[in-house]
Amino acid sequence: MCGIVGYIGEEQAAPVLLGGLKKLEYRGYDSAGVAVHNSSGLHVVKAKGRLAVLDGILEGGATLPGTVGIGHTRWATHGAPSDVNSHPQVSDGGLFAVVHNGIIENYLYLKNHLKRRGVAFVSDTDTEVVAQMLEYYYKGDVLQAIRQVTDRVEGSYALGIICAHCPEKVFAVRKDSPLIVGLGQGENFIASDVTAILGHTRRICRLKDREIAVLERGGARFFDAELDPVEKQEELVEWDVAAAEKGGYEHFMMKEICEQPEALGKTISPRIREGRVVLDGIRLSKEEIEGLSRIYIVACGTSYHVGAVAKYAMEKLLRLPIEVDVASEFRYREPILDSRTLVIIISQSGETADTLAALREAKRQGARTLSIVNVVGSTIASESDDVLYTWAGPEIAVASTKAYSTQLAMIYLIALYMVQELGTMPQQELAGLLAQLENLPRLAERCLAEKKEIQYFASRYFNAGDIYFIGRNVDYAASLEASLKLKEISYIHSEAYTGGELKHGPISLIEEGTLVVAICTCRRLFEKMMANIREVKARGAVVLGITTPQLAEALAQEADCLFAVPDTAEFMLPSMSILPLQLFAYYVASMKGCDIDKPRNLAKSVTVE
Ligand code: F6R
Repeated sequence: MCGIVGYIGEEQAAPVLLGGLKKLEYRGYDSAGVAVHNSSGLHVVKAKGRLAVLDGILEGGATLPGTVGIGHTRWATHGAPSDVNSHPQVSDGGLFAVVHNGIIENYLYLKNHLKRRGVAFVSDTDTEVVAQMLEYYYKGDVLQAIRQVTDRVEGSYALGIICAHCPEKVFAVRKDSPLIVGLGQGENFIASDVTAILGHTRRICRLKDREIAVLERGGARFFDAELDPVEKQEELVEWDVAAAEKGGYEHFMMKEICEQPEALGKTISPRIREGRVVLDGIRLSKEEIEGLSRIYIVACGTSYHVGAVAKYAMEKLLRLPIEVDVASEFRYREPILDSRTLVIIISQSGETADTLAALREAKRQGARTLSIVNVVGSTIASESDDVLYTWAGPEIAVASTKAYSTQLAMIYLIALYMVQELGTMPQQELAGLLAQLENLPRLAERCLAEKKEIQYFASRYFNAGDIYFIGRNVDYAASLEASLKLKEISYIHSEAYTGGELKHGPISLIEEGTLVVAICTCRRLFEKMMANIREVKARGAVVLGITTPQLAEALAQEADCLFAVPDTAEFMLPSMSILPLQLFAYYVASMKGCDIDKPRNLAKSVTVE
């Protein structure tokens, strides 16, 4: 959600900042701006629209001299996308320029307070309050001013700051919104996401809540909230530059869809050794697992849909109640937790605000917490009791694909690990399931090789007004994700229903020519789904069936068109059925001419509530 980059070095700053912002544009893309120090003072250039607009104005940065600066790409929260609401926001006297990710919750109170003291505001943003307060409290020491401001603001922030009086410094501070410092040779960086600076350095330091960084050309210094110096541990980022590039694909989304076999391999294979699940990130003993009274799974969006599959899979394997919650609801519904509750938090970014708040609520109530996260060192990962990384590599496309697949694989691993520790499944059966899990990357590869059929089907239905997805059990859980994928990138209205619910209302939506995608991979519920397909067909629906080779012939009797995915254990079938439907969403969006990697109104990593 919004992207920040900052630079101090020997190179011209504006092209470096624009280059970094290009890597971050997937985080927000309704406006962008940069502020640069040069011999004639502090210069700010910003523009509504995609980064390309700003890039055009600055001719790739060439027209803006100066070697110190900050930049921002925005996803509007306070104030509509406009030139004036874009960041950097500048203080009344022109002393401070600020870029901000997050939300200042008490900004109205602070704004009114400053207005009464004669400070003039120009934008509708919460960020401008920070710039104005910095100038208001500045008495010659920027660090003191930052401290005064962070003592007073409530909410979440990652801030990049430059001050006209300190042309050789970049300042940064954060709370509940990620910010890293990149360390180079004679140059240093700040960024909200490591991908922005990977082309320059892999040496980073992560700021903790309320820590302040002061960057100069020769190095970076760090301070805590009381302004006492802090020693920071340097980390080496393992992701390489190529992982954050399109690598010949037209869109990141297609690249990431195609990366799923490899990503699944990275998640699964190091964790199955000599016929056993080995989860280095979990310290749950057999006694602790036996003592669990229930498991909550909490997440947002696509990660929540992993939870939907997990409920079916884990309840079946563990015979333990599993509750799945959308994080934004969980945090406010006063959940009843205790030390016998395990809360599994799922988040690709590890920074989603509601999910992080849910984790903190779980910990506050004394529950055991385990997170499934992709981004190493993210806030959720560092605050959970235990963490399991998916190792999917950077996911850049806003629509999540490989994160979903690898999170699912991690759920299967956790479930089978618990079964193994509890000793509740015959050894041979467990070995069979582990072999099937290890085989998932190969099956995914086979499945993704059949793109043409899906492309053809998309070409027939890309003009549809509404598309419905139906399924039962894990097929229903996969339908939820398939429907989200389609609607978020193609803007086609879409819903997912359980086959059994159709008659209770949704079937009234079906009319001549409505497309219904029926996921029917569960053998034991196949006949029930066939009945549902007959019901929608009798009302004029066109049905695309997703099934396994064994059930394909029977399904062909009813469906207008079908796609067979490789068969595997029932609870793992969503890992297969989702693949053609990710492709379907992609091709439909592409044929409609949508901006696939940057769908309207969305941004990657929702770090505000
Ligand atoms: C949809 C999508 C979102 C995310 C959601 C949670 O394609 O990507 O629904 O899944 O915002 O994000 P994380 O997993 O980073 O917490």
